[in-house]
Amino acid sequence: MKSLSTLRLALVGGVFALAGGASAMAAELNIYTTRESGLIQPLLDAFTASSGVKVNTVFMKDGLAERVASEGESSPADILMTVDVGNLADLAEKGLTQPVVSDVLKAAVPENLRDPANNWFALSMRARVLYAAKDLDLAAFNYEDLSDPKWKGKVCIRSGQHPYNTALFADYIAHNGAEATEAWLAAVKGNLARKAGGGDRDVAKDILGGICQIGIANSYYVGLMRSGKGGEEQVAWGDAIKVVLPTFKDGGTQVNVSGAAVAKHAPNKGEAVKLLEYLVSDDAQKLYAKANFEYPVKAGAPIDPIIASFGALKVDPVPMTEIVKHRKQASELAEKVGFDN
Ligand SMILES: [Fe+2]
Repeated sequence: MKSLSTLRLALVGGVFALAGGASAMAAELNIYTTRESGLIQPLLDAFTASSGVKVNTVFMKDGLAERVASEGESSPADILMTVDVGNLADLAEKGLTQPVVSDVLKAAVPENLRDPANNWFALSMRARVLYAAKDLDLAAFNYEDLSDPKWKGKVCIRSGQHPYNTALFADYIAHNGAEATEAWLAAVKGNLARKAGGGDRDVAKDILGGICQIGIANSYYVGLMRSGKGGEEQVAWGDAIKVVLPTFKDGGTQVNVSGAAVAKHAPNKGEAVKLLEYLVSDDAQKLYAKANFEYPVKAGAPIDPIIASFGALKVDPVPMTEIVKHRKQASELAEKVGFDN
């Protein structure tokens, strides 16, 4: 008898604990992200203010997929948020995500910027642009032109194995085929002013230093440099360059994305979808543009004036998933031509 009533008490307690847990969980949400907290926190704070849903965030530099995979079914992660389409596709390929059917997301995120099976959605974009010395007479540029012998000894770029360049080279394969891409990579390598390496901002720094005249780098760094957010020294780097939005001869400007997915075992799926839908709202898209000088994915959302000064972005129409398919070959071709040597 004694043990039975203890059991009954324990059960009642358990039910209360569960009910309490469930109601607390309904107003909470867990995010795992590789994005910097300074960028993401204002967006999450705004979401909490408008929805009442508390957001717990785990920031990690890398190892996002590994951590979620090792946690398995007991993972508390609801949202997985990261940068680079390759990372987003990896999460889906590893079975760590689940499809989300949402008219709001479908309407806001262009088709080429989301997973066809609805496992991930781009939330913001960055363009791979041309930094050029200010005095260069250059109003338009094709990525194909980087191999032109007239740029011999004048080009700066980071490692050919960096994911930013891998995605660009993969897009090049999508447009021009592998053979032409290999020849182009070998010729671009031949045009380099210095060994491929450093960061994107070093392209601007080295243009200021007279080491090179042109280079390829991400759009948002110009905002970080010119605004002073990157420190005083970088203002001079940003002011030393002009930006041209290059296009493929038969396409547009190559973009990469930041994005998010709902985790396969999300304990709070409903709240997770609410957050994704919030992140493509006009308010959130405006914050993205403001916090990190990114391009909103939603048509018509305002762009930071520094970024808008580059001119109208014509996003390359090749679907992100197509670029993902060519990444491995892009990396192999860069290796084959000794791009980083
Ligand atoms: Fe970056």
